[in-house]
Amino acid sequence: MNELVLPNDTNVFGNLMGGRLMYWMDIAAAMAAGKHCNSPSMTASVDNLSFKNPIKLGNIVHIEAKVTRAFTTSMEIHLKVWGEDSLHQYKYESNEAYFTFVALDPNGKPRSVVPVIPETEDEKAHFEGALRRRQLRLILGGKMKPTDANELKAFFATSNP
Ligand SMILES: CC(C)(COP(=O)(O)OP(=O)(O)OC[C@H]1O[C@@H](n2cnc3c(N)ncnc32)[C@H](O)[C@@H]1OP(=O)(O)O)[C@@H](O)C(=O)NCCC(=O)NCCS
Repeated sequence: MNELVLPNDTNVFGNLMGGRLMYWMDIAAAMAAGKHCNSPSMTASVDNLSFKNPIKLGNIVHIEAKVTRAFTTSMEIHLKVWGEDSLHQYKYESNEAYFTFVALDPNGKPRSVVPVIPETEDEKAHFEGALRRRQLRLILGGKMKPTDANELKAFFATSNP
């Protein structure tokens, strides 16, 4: 997804407002989720977002959204954002984040989604890490007890010699 940063999108420093970028990221993630599950879906959570580089007025915003893994009714979407100064012809990284979307049936209830089959090395790495990230966000969201997070426990057990 591409957007042009116009004056109404900026803060007092002449940079893209974080809230506007999150809005665009949410739309890009919704499109990726909708394409994967072929039904309407809802934002369930957004993992931590930090802004590395501001995107300037008049620059182009590129957002790439990919479904990394599907669980029962939820999907993890990885977003990468770049700014582009098309006059001087360079691109710079702005931020990245993981969003979780839940597919909904016509009654607004969660519905099951088809799995993701990762192919490239990058897709496989995101797919593998998705279980741990899911457990962490469910713990932070009060939906899982830390004692039940087996993937996370195994990860920390092998990471700490
Ligand atoms: C997201 C929502 C549909 C989940 O419904 P729910 O009744 O809690 O359903 P469940 O507990 O059965 O969870 C459904 C799925 O959502 C996931 N989920 C729920 N809360 C989550 C959270 N905080 N983070 C990540 N995933 C979450 C569950 O893990 C489950 O995934 P799975 O089926 O793949 O295992 C519901 O909480 C909701 O409608 N929230 C408001 C969403 C919204 O308004 N978004 C717009 C932003 S304002």
